[in-house]
Amino acid sequence: MTEMLVARGLGRIYRWRGGQHEALVNVDLSVPKGVVLGLLGRNGAGKTTFVRIAATSLMPTSGSMEVLGHDVVHAAAEVRARIAVIPQESRPFYWMTAGELVEYYLRMRGETVSQARNQARDTLAELELSRWKDVQANRLSGGLRRRVMVAMVMASDAEVLFLDEPTTGLDPLARRSVWNAIRRAASERRTIVLTTHYLDEAEALSDRLAILEGGRLLASGTPADIASRVRHPYRVTLEGGFSEKELEGLGQVTHVGAKTLLFTGEEQARELARTALEKGRRISMGPVSLEDLFVQIVGKEISHEDEETEGPLAS
Ligand SMILES: Nc1ncnc2c1ncn2[C@@H]1O[C@H](COP(=O)(O)OP(=O)(O)OP(=O)(O)O)[C@@H](O)[C@H]1O
Ligand SMILES: [Mg+2]
Repeated sequence: MTEMLVARGLGRIYRWRGGQHEALVNVDLSVPKGVVLGLLGRNGAGKTTFVRIAATSLMPTSGSMEVLGHDVVHAAAEVRARIAVIPQESRPFYWMTAGELVEYYLRMRGETVSQARNQARDTLAELELSRWKDVQANRLSGGLRRRVMVAMVMASDAEVLFLDEPTTGLDPLARRSVWNAIRRAASERRTIVLTTHYLDEAEALSDRLAILEGGRLLASGTPADIASRVRHPYRVTLEGGFSEKELEGLGQVTHVGAKTLLFTGEEQARELARTALEKGRRISMGPVSLEDLFVQIVGKEISHEDEETEGPLAS
């Protein structure tokens, strides 16, 4: 498999007069071609720092990163020509219309006038922005401006796309039109690094996940890889009939109204299902959501931060 991005021992320390902060610590990560990588982590985890280094707008302070086989420090121009980025909190130039923004972006990347015009029209339509094509950016709402930024990078021929919270502030339908554009880009074998706090979004789109916390990579791999490394990959909902004693030691128990929610391991889940069947009790179960995985992995890391006890993962 061709690796489109490879980080080796990547580190970044921000220094200022009288202080410093380690935003990335020894991160090893690779992203194969055609994959959507969901880059997850709490506020301040280091996601934007990672994206900015990959997009050649920030230098690492240790380790290295290659994008499309080029070193991001020594061959920044080669990398820039073949990637496209939506930085976190960026806004388009306010005096240009939505159509002009996409067209000029494509022209700047070397497309002909007619190519740029056609591509801009199609991408704006895909993102349900056609009716805003001739409206100046300063007259668009925040969410519409964000979608115009998405249209700019999606319309380009860039092989690797970095989207730093592209859907923050978008309404649920607009988010879905962005999801469709991301899926289409992935089906064209483009590689996408997607940062998001919406874990349903990461779950719907990502082939691979990487979870950062405090600048360290806590877990990476396919969603199944990550699920296989937590203690409680199953969520069981019990509608009464089980005593506290029966559930003791099986996992993490939470009561929600009349229902009992249990996060547990595969074996324990099977055993509970057998018992429920024998005793005619109502039970439902399934793998935990990405949000539950995130809470288990990052939550454990935080609670163990100052203790030398068991790590967050099962193995
Ligand atoms: N220019 C800077 N100078 C000093 N510290 C910085 C700078 N930029 C970021 N940091 C710090 O580095 C850490 C990582 O920041 P980063 O922006 O990469 O986080 P993030 O994961 O993108 O967070 P969010 O989800 O809030 O966007 C944070 O603790 C932040 O305060
Ligand atoms: Mg960020």
